Amino acid sequence: MASSLSTLVLSAVLVSAQSSVFDFPEYPPPGAFDPNETLASAVGTLPYGIGVADQSLASTPVHYDTGFFGPQIELVHAYYNYWPTGVGVGSDGMVFTCYPRGNETYTLGLITGPTTEEAWPDEEWNTPPAFENVTNPGYSIASEKLIFVQSVVVDGLDRVWALDTGRPRVNGTYLYAQAPGGPKLVGFYMNGTSFAMYYFPSTVVYADSSINDVRFDLRGGGYAYITDSSPYHPALVVVDLATGESWRHLEGHAAVSPDPAFVPVYNGVPFYYHTLLAPNAIQFMTAFAADGIALSADGEYVYVTPLTSRHLYRVPTSYLKQQPSSSNPYAAILAKEAVQTVAESGGHADGLETDASGYIYIGSQEHNAIHRYNATIGIVEPFIRNPAIQWADTFSVVTLAEGNYLYFTVNQLWLAPDYQNGTDLRTKPYAMYRVPLETGRANQTEAA
Ligand SMILES: *[C@@H]1O[C@H](CO)[C@@H](O)[C@H](O)[C@H]1NC(C)=O
Ligand SMILES: *[C@@H]1O[C@H](CO)[C@@H](O)[C@H](O)[C@H]1NC(C)=O
Ligand SMILES: *[C@@H]1O[C@H](CO)[C@@H](O)[C@H](O)[C@H]1NC(C)=O
Ligand SMILES: *[C@@H]1O[C@H](CO)[C@@H](O)[C@H](O)[C@H]1NC(C)=O
Ligand SMILES: *[C@@H]1O[C@H](CO)[C@@H](O)[C@H](O)[C@H]1NC(C)=O
Ligand SMILES: *[C@@H]1O[C@H](CO)[C@@H](O)[C@H](O)[C@H]1NC(C)=O
Ligand SMILES: *[C@@H]1O[C@H](CO)[C@@H](O)[C@H](O)[C@H]1NC(C)=O
Ligand SMILES: *[C@@H]1O[C@H](CO)[C@@H](O)[C@H](O)[C@H]1NC(C)=O
Repeated sequence: MASSLSTLVLSAVLVSAQSSVFDFPEYPPPGAFDPNETLASAVGTLPYGIGVADQSLASTPVHYDTGFFGPQIELVHAYYNYWPTGVGVGSDGMVFTCYPRGNETYTLGLITGPTTEEAWPDEEWNTPPAFENVTNPGYSIASEKLIFVQSVVVDGLDRVWALDTGRPRVNGTYLYAQAPGGPKLVGFYMNGTSFAMYYFPSTVVYADSSINDVRFDLRGGGYAYITDSSPYHPALVVVDLATGESWRHLEGHAAVSPDPAFVPVYNGVPFYYHTLLAPNAIQFMTAFAADGIALSADGEYVYVTPLTSRHLYRVPTSYLKQQPSSSNPYAAILAKEAVQTVAESGGHADGLETDASGYIYIGSQEHNAIHRYNATIGIVEPFIRNPAIQWADTFSVVTLAEGNYLYFTVNQLWLAPDYQNGTDLRTKPYAMYRVPLETGRANQTEAA
């Protein structure tokens, strides 16, 4: 009797403990995004040319997906020549862009008109003496000239940085391996004068590394944070801009690695992989690792997401600034342990970007959308959606005289021959759009 009484008492305690466990906090949190503001839903009379089996149904109102939400996007530029990836916008309105290099005559460009672009800073900077090192077949060369600029970023001081992978493509097929002196980070003033050039030792950027995108923190001596999207060595690369030293972090961590079970869906069509074999197999999208990267406006976190994953991660910059070495032996493991999974973002991204208020913008290729992460409440909210957003590749936030904008390239990446068994399903022009923001570019510098 006594024992069953105490069991009863115990279960009563459990029940009351449980009821507090299941006492949900207010959801959504106060002040959170109101779905009614941008929900892509409408009611209309058979809006998409739907047939009717009986005429009495002809004027039936049906609920449908409009394909749109958020503020209106504006077409800024139509690319009729080369296929773009990156965009960086200066506060004077100069728009820089870059192109993966196959047989393109330049890899870093300036937008000069609605449909025109030119080599920037000039042709010479864009013309290395060769792409292949004939005495080291399969490898590219060391050169201060721009080989394959994968990302162009305008920093908080309005300086233009080109991230060169050093790995040009051979005749539109495979990528050359890089040799030290090929991959580099080059800083230019707006007038095209170069003021900095950082190279990487072969222990930091490997021959088959693929340095993909970069963000800057200009506090103190300054740091650059770079994604290595190589499927063989996914990691982050950190550059100390004051000393020029660089090191790797998060080697092979899930935050930078492809999700092996990932199967995306574009425009409603599941993207199953063709059983690609050489010569059609050039790149496998499932192999793409860490790609998008952003620094929080306060400089406290680096946000990162693998291209083939629907998870957003962040890691405190205080850990990334620690250079792993024999005198700092736990730096690498501590940085891995400090990674936080902040969101299942409901889509997958190529680019990430920050604005001064702290939002992290996240491409959402499967939804023809761009979402944004609000770190204060820990929620990814819808931002813009439009059927014309056909792979929002890379972002740049800028404060212009006429207002604050998020610029983004739209490049139809998944329709490229690399992912379509050698057939090019892209349609020119490729596009650059912009959308107004409440706040502008994060300055990446200390408090005034
Ligand atoms: C995030 O949400 C909070 C709470 O609603 C709000 O005050 C803030 O303006 C939002 N935006 C950012 C960037 O934190
Ligand atoms: C959303 O809109 C619907 C229809 O206008 C309205 O009934 C509902 O109360 C709104 N919900 C919120 C959370 O405002
Ligand atoms: C070409 O490769 C050889 C052999 O590895 C090396 O000594 C030379 O520096 C390389 N040249 C360039 C321009 O990278
Ligand atoms: C590239 O193509 C040209 C013309 O077809 C050929 O002569 C050359 O050998 C090729 N280069 C490589 C590295 O395959
Ligand atoms: C450049 O390479 C592409 C394939 O990658 C090919 O279609 C195009 O004809 C080439 N252009 C020139 C000028 O060689
Ligand atoms: C380019 O800009 C930098 C920084 O503003 C300045 O120091 C330099 O003199 C300029 N160079 C030329 C050629 O105008
Ligand atoms: C891929 O292309 C190759 C060569 O053009 C062709 O033989 C093969 O059938 C294609 N595979 C698919 C799945 O379309
Ligand atoms: C940079 O931005 C931060 C946060 O928005 C602000 O506190 C600081 O004063 C700004 N610094 C400068 C130099 O404008």
